[in-house]
Amino acid sequence: MNTLHTIAQLRAALNRARQDGKRIGLVPTMGNLHAGHVTLVAKARQRTDFVVVSIFVNPLQFGVGEDLDSYPRTLEEDQRKLLDAGADLVFAPNVKEMYPEGMAGHTRISVPVVSEGLCGASRPGHFEGVATVVCKLLNIVQPDLAVFGQKDFQQLAVIRKMAHDLCLPVQVMGEPTVRADDGLALSSRNGYLSEEERKIAPVLFQTLQDTAKAIQAGERDYPALIECARQRLADAGLRADYLDLRDALTLDPVNTGTRDMVILAAAYLGKTRLIDNLLFQQD
Ligand code: PAJ
Repeated sequence: MNTLHTIAQLRAALNRARQDGKRIGLVPTMGNLHAGHVTLVAKARQRTDFVVVSIFVNPLQFGVGEDLDSYPRTLEEDQRKLLDAGADLVFAPNVKEMYPEGMAGHTRISVPVVSEGLCGASRPGHFEGVATVVCKLLNIVQPDLAVFGQKDFQQLAVIRKMAHDLCLPVQVMGEPTVRADDGLALSSRNGYLSEEERKIAPVLFQTLQDTAKAIQAGERDYPALIECARQRLADAGLRADYLDLRDALTLDPVNTGTRDMVILAAAYLGKTRLIDNLLFQQD
């Protein structure tokens, strides 16, 4: 398993793989890999013959005051995990390789509507940064299949919409969230939590689960349910950034006729921003 740092090297390696008739899979990441990332690689491995994993902490998707500088960079460990996971190639460009003329004047991809609200409201420009870098990675690698996690539900919706609107010749796949035994969604940012905070963190998913259960049991007063869920988070010491029920297919607000629902939340625990979501059906 090679690690390549330039687009030119990567394209040469991919040309060889394509000449051998291989189907290419791509798993874009920012590194500091955990079991969630590894399942995406395993899925790409099942579906394609040559799996590329990109590791790039993309400055364009971080806002002012966010954790760009402190974001964990653990390339050697990541390489070991990817070797075990069966990746064929790691693409780990530096910022200059991806944005040679800097970021200010760089072309950007903006995906309206689906980027608005939820994480888009509290992280202005974030999804533009994500869409831009993912579009670049898709154009660099030209994979048959790209695999993403449902943990970043809105991000997946943004990427699907971009691929659809721009007729990108790639199949976008979303994989279920991998969790710790206590339900906490695995995330590179969990490493920021203190021991005490780590014990509290599973309340986020428990709250989503209990809200979903109440809806499945027939409760239809959504604002009251959301208020109750927010209160529960606050009582546990989490500060909700948003907590919302949406149509899982469109991300539109729900009504009593919506069948496929997703409950999404972002909450601060100390300085760490946790996000999670749960898909369910309202019968
Ligand atoms: P990163 O946070 O490193 O996540 C890379 C991929 O792993 C994303 O598709 C994310 O949804 C998925 N993932 C993260 N935690 C997961 C979990 N617990 N279970 C399943 N999948 C999980 O998301 C990004 O990087 C970036 O925004 C990126 C798409 C690479 C663009 O820079």
